[in-house]
Amino acid sequence: MAKIAVMGYGTVGSGVVEILRENGDLVAERCGQKIEVKKVLDLRDFPGDPAQELIVHDIAEIVGDDEISVVCETMGGVDIATKFVTQCLEAGKSVVTSNKAMVAANGSALLKLAQKNNVRFLFEASVGGGIPIIRNLRTCLTADHIQKIFGILNGTTNYMLTKMYDEGADYDAVLKEAQKKGFAEADPSADVEGWDACRKIAILSSIVSGRFVDFQKIHTEGITKITPVDMAYAKAMGRMIRLVGESVVEDDQVHAMVAPMMFDKEHALAGVNMEFNAIFLTSDMLGDTMFYGQGAGKLPTASAVASDVIEAVSSPEAVKRSVWTDEEMPVAEFGSENRRFFARVSGDESLADTLGAQLGSLQVLRAPGIAGEFGIVTGELAEETMAACVKACPEIISVIRMAD
Ligand code: HSE
Repeated sequence: MAKIAVMGYGTVGSGVVEILRENGDLVAERCGQKIEVKKVLDLRDFPGDPAQELIVHDIAEIVGDDEISVVCETMGGVDIATKFVTQCLEAGKSVVTSNKAMVAANGSALLKLAQKNNVRFLFEASVGGGIPIIRNLRTCLTADHIQKIFGILNGTTNYMLTKMYDEGADYDAVLKEAQKKGFAEADPSADVEGWDACRKIAILSSIVSGRFVDFQKIHTEGITKITPVDMAYAKAMGRMIRLVGESVVEDDQVHAMVAPMMFDKEHALAGVNMEFNAIFLTSDMLGDTMFYGQGAGKLPTASAVASDVIEAVSSPEAVKRSVWTDEEMPVAEFGSENRRFFARVSGDESLADTLGAQLGSLQVLRAPGIAGEFGIVTGELAEETMAACVKACPEIISVIRMAD
């Protein structure tokens, strides 16, 4: 019998306890032994909940309990979570976590500590919710150079953009819905401002490059500026808007970005709706692969955490090679990437000629019911060229990148 603890009995933590109870026999069969949740750490009490009798309020009760071999960290936040995880690893316990903020900020040090203590530090649930992407990168795609990662990595914003596009839903109302459904972070600005997706693309880039990629150096834009007018233009173009993360490993550096993009309706990512996520990988031997599934929510995310628990119980000792080292992988300065852009421009179309002189050939668009402005789609040009034009031209209302 393996005994484990769960730190944080919120949406994901309670899901982990539920899965290990509901699917206990199956888990025991796959692990070769039963897994018992012995303690649950939380500041709160949960009267009437089956986990109430397991609740402890002091981390020392877990760290000092020699019977506990694996600890799930599902508290969220960075500083306290890192402190508790550090204590658990130092006490010789494996740790599994869904906490991307902690992994993106302190993953290198925690991986090193796990290695030193000959235990596991696993974080499948930190990217793509329930989608098994990290394990596939760690154990399946190991003979390939992964050249590009491109995907929808945040369930909350994908849910919001789907509802805003399909139903004309109001931004604030649909964000509240996403929070109610347990998709959003405790502070949902991490979702809507793109930081959650940014941390996830940094984690994937670190795994792929084997070196630490600092999320704070990745150009990040969220969906806070996306309006119903953008949706109207997207519809007029037969496109939809999705928040994506992109990372290309090239010449010993990473070109990475998180931003909303316009997708043709035929594009595979345009069919990724609601809280679902999808991740495209391009690698030198396999070519293109796509991973798709529930990117947020209690049981999908908890399923990924529980799979890590099973791995840590079944193979408790550190593997030879750490997932990534603390050597930093440089993030390329943002600006040289080439792509097409959609922009909204105020005034009449006479400005199109001036813009065309700066940006090259333009396609001019109108969206039904939108007056006093027009849309343009540029040819392929560098990010820095577009940024300079936006700076010089106050008539440009907003810009969204085109995904070709
Ligand atoms: N807030 C995150 C999301 C949860 O919406 O994707 C899953 O990581």
